Amino acid sequence: MLNRFRLEFPSRPENVGLARVAVAAFAAQLDPTLEELDEIKGAVSEAVTNAIIHGYGNSPDGIVIVEGILYGDAIEVCVEDAGKGMEDVARAMEPEQTSDPERLGLGFTFMKTFMDEVKVDSVPGQGTRVIMRKQLATRH
Ligand SMILES: Nc1ncnc2c1ncn2[C@@H]1O[C@H](COP(=O)(O)OP(=O)(O)OP(=O)(O)O)[C@@H](O)[C@H]1O
Ligand SMILES: [Mg+2]
Repeated sequence: MLNRFRLEFPSRPENVGLARVAVAAFAAQLDPTLEELDEIKGAVSEAVTNAIIHGYGNSPDGIVIVEGILYGDAIEVCVEDAGKGMEDVARAMEPEQTSDPERLGLGFTFMKTFMDEVKVDSVPGQGTRVIMRKQLATRH
């Protein structure tokens, strides 16, 4: 491990941008391409948005924790909530699976496209942790 950070904020939609910018600034230490940076920011947006709208049902009283870890040429980002959790994670991660008919159900699909690995631990009634890893192209 080369470096790490931890950020904690209330589950307010205006903090999605904060999380994106914090992770992007952190990832910049690995000298990513603009495309890699956009993908990381996209994945963070999806995971943090899910924590706020699904985990906490849009209540601003929850706490979202975002952690970043740098390993060599890889970044790991962890997004955690102590919200309602999921009964069936594998099913929730399928494309077009959503509990909200107003949404597309593509958040996890984007996360899997943007990052190399996406793992989800979730316990109903306790919360959810999304761990995403991306290997960056070395240009040194
Ligand atoms: N942090 C979370 N806590 C509880 N449930 C979650 C969480 N994240 C995702 N889910 C569940 O998994 C489903 C799929 O999530 P996904 O992000 O793929 O789609 P979506 O959020 O419904 O739609 P979109 O992301 O396209 O707006 C959600 O509809 C929700 O039921
Ligand atoms: Mg989503």
